[in-house]
Amino acid sequence: MISIVGAGKVGSAAAFSILGFRTSDIVLVDIAENLARGEALDMMQAAPAIEFDGKIKGTNDYGEMKGSELVIVTAGLGRQPGMSRSDLAEKNAKIVKSIVKEVVRYCPACKLMMVTNPVDAMTYVAYKESGFERNRVFGMGNILDTLRFRSYIAQELGVSREDIRGLVIGEHGDSMVPLVGHASVSGIPITELLNGEQIEKIVSLTRSSGSDVIKLKGATTYAPSVVIAIMADAVLKGRNRVMGVSTYLQGEYGFSDVSIGVPCVLGKNGVERIVELKLDPQTKAEFEKSVASVTEVIGKTYETALTKPTSEA
Ligand code: NAI
Repeated sequence: MISIVGAGKVGSAAAFSILGFRTSDIVLVDIAENLARGEALDMMQAAPAIEFDGKIKGTNDYGEMKGSELVIVTAGLGRQPGMSRSDLAEKNAKIVKSIVKEVVRYCPACKLMMVTNPVDAMTYVAYKESGFERNRVFGMGNILDTLRFRSYIAQELGVSREDIRGLVIGEHGDSMVPLVGHASVSGIPITELLNGEQIEKIVSLTRSSGSDVIKLKGATTYAPSVVIAIMADAVLKGRNRVMGVSTYLQGEYGFSDVSIGVPCVLGKNGVERIVELKLDPQTKAEFEKSVASVTEVIGKTYETALTKPTSEA
């Protein structure tokens, strides 16, 4: 069973995507009275058409999560136009802390997927507050960035999006690092098919992709929800998929005590292992900058807002 905490735009769309994958029964939890119940009822009525025979329940009772194999947290505030992910951190950290308490209480053996932004810092907060092993707490961000990267490469080349492979690592935010040297079209490096100017344009579009949607419609929904479903499917079915996942580093890539996106094998136990790539000096420097950016947000939210008495904050 999967529980999703936060039945807002992303949580409810993610639940519907997961139903489409027929991955698992779903419990949707939200503090807003009736919202989760209404979403679940709406989806249940669509279930015959998408051939989903499992359970879909909406509630504001955290106890209904009991026994979930995977808990996905999409609760919290979203970014407003012009607002950085860092601005969100302090408010959402408090929400995440309170939710993690309930997760530990009702699902002590679960895997915990963070979606709430800024997702790397929220993954750190969830890891620290849960006391879970690090493989069980991970964040969704880089796969979404990668989906966007792949879309823009395909658009520039005029080829099928399906044939594009690539990776984005680092912060799910402005300092993300699209790995140009690792991107390919059916195995052909994109550097053989695109010139520097075209690649720069793709990287820039990838970096601004989330904000571009937020500027137009106030939030991102479809792309994140389908990525959540892909990750949930990888965990529930133990598929060992290789993807960029925010995870707590203990020396990998030369960093410790930070949660940030790196390539991981995602399976039954959550992060089964971290894949350590050899980065060229420029990419390494970009990744270092990204780590510094996430560390700064963690410092402001976890160390200041959550763990120190208010008078010191
Ligand atoms: P939304 O405002 O539509 O939904 C948030 C929901 O959380 C609301 O229904 C609210 O009642 C609920 N909530 C708040 N506190 C709660 C609590 N303590 N327990 C249970 N439910 C609670 O927002 P939306 O658009 O769904 O976004 C949710 C979060 O996901 C935001 O932080 C957003 O920035 C983030 N996000 C992250 C992405 C990523 O790639 N990691 C992509 C898209 C959104």
